[in-house]
Amino acid sequence: MNAPEGAPRATDNSTKSDLQKFLADQEKKTLLRFLTCGSVDDGKSTLIGRLLYDTKLLFEDTLASLEKDSKKFGTTGEDIDFALLVDGLEAEREQGITIDVAYRFFATDKRKFIVADTPGHEQYTRNMATGASNSELAVILIDARKGVLTQTRRHAYIASLLGIRHIVLAVNKIDLVDYSQSVFDGIVADFNAFAEKLGFASQIAIPLSARYGVNVMAKSPETPWYQGPALLNHLESVDVDTALEKGPFRLPVQWVNRPNLDFRGFSGTVVGGRIKPGDTVAVAKSGRTTKVARIVTMDGDMKEAVAGDAVTLTLTDEVDTSRGDVLSAPEARPDVSDQFAAHLLWMAEEEMLPGRQYLLKLATATVPASVSELKHKVDVNTLEHLAAKTLTLNDVGYANFSLGAPLAFDAYRDNRDMGGFILIDRFTNATVGAGMIDFGLRRATNVHWQALDVNKEARARMKGQKPVVLWFTGLSGSGKSTIANLVEKSLTAEGKHTYLLDGDNVRHGLNKDLGFTDADRVENIRRVGEAARLFVDAGLIVLVSFISPFRSERRMARELVGKGEFVEVFVDTPIEVCMQRDPKGLYEKAKSGAIKNFTGIDSPYETPEQAELAIKTVDGPAERHAQAIVAYLRERGYLG
Ligand code: ADX
Repeated sequence: MNAPEGAPRATDNSTKSDLQKFLADQEKKTLLRFLTCGSVDDGKSTLIGRLLYDTKLLFEDTLASLEKDSKKFGTTGEDIDFALLVDGLEAEREQGITIDVAYRFFATDKRKFIVADTPGHEQYTRNMATGASNSELAVILIDARKGVLTQTRRHAYIASLLGIRHIVLAVNKIDLVDYSQSVFDGIVADFNAFAEKLGFASQIAIPLSARYGVNVMAKSPETPWYQGPALLNHLESVDVDTALEKGPFRLPVQWVNRPNLDFRGFSGTVVGGRIKPGDTVAVAKSGRTTKVARIVTMDGDMKEAVAGDAVTLTLTDEVDTSRGDVLSAPEARPDVSDQFAAHLLWMAEEEMLPGRQYLLKLATATVPASVSELKHKVDVNTLEHLAAKTLTLNDVGYANFSLGAPLAFDAYRDNRDMGGFILIDRFTNATVGAGMIDFGLRRATNVHWQALDVNKEARARMKGQKPVVLWFTGLSGSGKSTIANLVEKSLTAEGKHTYLLDGDNVRHGLNKDLGFTDADRVENIRRVGEAARLFVDAGLIVLVSFISPFRSERRMARELVGKGEFVEVFVDTPIEVCMQRDPKGLYEKAKSGAIKNFTGIDSPYETPEQAELAIKTVDGPAERHAQAIVAYLRERGYLG
């Protein structure tokens, strides 16, 4: 390969101006971010290797000479492009979804490229989604011998969901099918029949042999029947102008910068539009408007900032804004709601369970969130909607979400940064899902909390007690109900007002539609948690006796009531003892396989780690444990 035009060679007569011209040219070039996807043996690595080998090698060669020149002339020229690469990585890290994706950089004389390389034997949705979340184009590889596979369709569908508008179908290993046009045409027809439903803005198919470089850097004579461009020519010229700066202004506030009393700036990265001092901005959540006074950066004030710039804005009025809020164009404010509908990619081994709380991160905001309704999951082969109760690894679904607090957002199709989010497991901190917002839901927005004159305090005062939830958790047969029953008897004997919610009983009424799958147990506890909250509001001492096997939902129930209103009682009885007692003969049935998903047998029980009270039932009679609980309540002032 020859040097790209304009690149200085490492000759003795290199001059400073040559170097500067080269670097200036590099800066002017447009950048294309793309990702490659395909199954394990489709030749992805070979293709990337080929592109890097045939372009970057040379670039490095050039850079090596530049480096020499840079030293000579005392510039740090080669930093420019690497900074770009690092920026890309940092943006990902901010999103918390950096996993097995390597970003490789290369350039030709026409364009710079960042290719997201998603290695690993398992082509998990996770890698693909991570790579796709800021790519403009996807190269989908197909082995010409195998044709379109489920994986191909999955990747094309996910690429479209993640906002990729441009697709290259790379029909690789064309040499292994004797450069056959009919094989190529068959694959393309097959793929197009599927992809037309996805509505990409541009889509071309190229017969390739990454191994032999056929149609990679230049058109090859082996496929005279192919009329289109070589891969690199296409990548160099495809128009992917996303023009984020043309959209409405968006600055998700990362932090409020207040070094002294005279300065108050709002820092973050502009993710849409442009802004100048004097422009009016609106705070998304409050709707309050003000004007931009200055755009401050490390290198001095700017006259204008556009999408991609990291800046600090000072405003002409004192406005109330904090991390997670969004400064925005006043005439096109983002949506603000605590419910929305979104596409969801599930990336974890554990199932997605509707009703379970996760942490949702969108732009600079983090809020608790749960799926309130899973509408369907998608068959990636046919794009059909299938009924589903949960999502498992690599599933793609569509769901309504309910958030712990209102959020400012846009539809993903309008702005990826303002409409893309990740879900995080609250215990492991692992990223378990990625979502793309479709639209906000208005229902809760129009339902207001009704202020009532008689409140919890008044009701509790009348009863001479402090309302509280006593949450008994433990295996079936551990003795929860026995002890809860004794505690309630003792409390009512001294005139206290109580109510006991028992798993078996509630499952006869309110929860009679629920079984014992993980998803049903989550919903079981969500409902009983909400019921307990209402009873606390009624001023009662509420005893809840449910296995409640999952930490997540016990925590959710705890967070539904106020501080000091939740006492977790772990009824800690070894499973061997529960099996021996087997009061309802259920362990016997579970062991024989007659009942499925039995807690402790083939369904998990997550031991409480921070229960207020832990009771070892094997140490003495139930009456004594019950009295200990009553004493605990008395000492802490619940009994008035
Ligand atoms: S929870 O796990 O969803 O909290 P819950 O406390 O409501 O369970 O119900 C548990 C009761 O249902 C047990 O005490 C037992 O009597 C009965 N049961 C029936 N099938 C199962 C099962 N597969 N696992 C656990 N309990 C079961």
